[in-house]
Amino acid sequence: MAKKAELHIDGEIIELPVITGTENETAIDISRLRAETGVITLDKGFKNTGSTQSGITFLDGEKGILRYRGYAIEELAEESSFLEVAFLLIYGELPTSEDLAAFEKEISEHTLVHEDVRSILDGFPSKAHPMGVLSSLVSSLTAFYPKSLDPNRSVEEINGTIIRSIAKLPTLAAWSFKNRMRQPVIYPDNSLGYCENFIRMMFSLPTLNYEVNPVVASALNKLLILHADHEQNCSASTVRIVGSSHASLYASVSAGIAALWGPLHGGANQAVIEMLEQIKDDGGDVDKYVAKAKDRSDSFRLMGFGHRVYKSFDPRATIIKKAADEVLGQLGVEDPVLDIAKKLEQVALNDEYFKVKGLYPNVDFYSGIIYRAIGIPTDMFTVMFALGRLPGWIAQWKEMRENGEPIGRPRQIYTGATERKYVPIEKR
Ligand code: ACO
Repeated sequence: MAKKAELHIDGEIIELPVITGTENETAIDISRLRAETGVITLDKGFKNTGSTQSGITFLDGEKGILRYRGYAIEELAEESSFLEVAFLLIYGELPTSEDLAAFEKEISEHTLVHEDVRSILDGFPSKAHPMGVLSSLVSSLTAFYPKSLDPNRSVEEINGTIIRSIAKLPTLAAWSFKNRMRQPVIYPDNSLGYCENFIRMMFSLPTLNYEVNPVVASALNKLLILHADHEQNCSASTVRIVGSSHASLYASVSAGIAALWGPLHGGANQAVIEMLEQIKDDGGDVDKYVAKAKDRSDSFRLMGFGHRVYKSFDPRATIIKKAADEVLGQLGVEDPVLDIAKKLEQVALNDEYFKVKGLYPNVDFYSGIIYRAIGIPTDMFTVMFALGRLPGWIAQWKEMRENGEPIGRPRQIYTGATERKYVPIEKR
């Protein structure tokens, strides 16, 4: 028999359908609640609210499981490439070797951006945060591809926008870094792989014969896979909600980049390194900072610890921790900040406060350490996250559009003044 939930309100009993997902997650369907009772639910931060039914990513925060389209993140991170994972997330199945070759070819043929993008880039001061620049440049693509403004076009045309987004984001991301460095931009090289091309556009100069280090490219490939999707997080929900008004993919992704920027979301990787440097400059007293994080009267939090969903461990953190050790070993990097990170991790993992609240290092605790080791400057860390998350945003946007989801428009409980009479200014 189908499960039902009962809601008792004002002496009435309302029956609500119960929905079960393929992994047995359960939801009470309240979509008819307001129409039938006049009441709404209140759930600040959507901690208990499912905004959609999705077939893209499954995660179980209690058991530390993360799967893209049913495939374990551990296997994908170990064995696949970022573009293979992008294909899987966006189109739903693993590509055959022919599918993947065609996908990679198409992407490599669209890496160049319109030359006028350079004049937009030149308009930004060098101090501009690269996330702001990236978000603006992605939004500016609507001007170069005006047909993309209509998200109701044919599947082929939508696919063209998808391919262009994946192809051009590394170019725009690397150029936002070049703007910050006031260095000439490096044009894409279509003979290189996705990660190799990005690294070259970041670090090469017109005067250099730059060789991409395969250790760095492989580390980047893994990092991008680990960040590729994470179901209905703040930025994915933003992409879906912006797209639900039938805004274009570029506009929706640009909004996703803005949502990712904050230190409680993607900006945490930058905040982690800044925090570790602060602890180092302050004498390296890890206990002092753990005490600050536990002090309720102090707003300081341990950046890179805690997660809205993972309350036992973040499976991505386990993979990335191992990768960080390997990359640092292979590159021969010794970093005092890494020693602080290791001490902090040990102290926090053995501390009752963190254990009771289920606060463990998340993916961003370690990703910043790798980015630093491969020479990515701190304020580019979140841009790297955006690069990884793009296929997830695209998959979420595409699924939302294909399911014909209604415009996202939450309700509220009004707590302001009740009706008052307007008083003309001279009588106030
Ligand atoms: N350091 C110290 N205390 C913390 C931390 C932390 N990093 N994170 C949570 N807490 C405490 C809170 O003070 C709160 O304590 P209380 O119950 O006594 O009030 C309790 O743990 C629950 O915290 P919430 O903020 O309610 O948990 P929520 O699920 O809303 O937030 C979040 C999750 C935002 C990730 C939070 O843990 C945090 O701010 N972490 C640091 C920032 C960070 O690393 N963000 C990256 C997330 S991963 C990602 O986006 C890829």
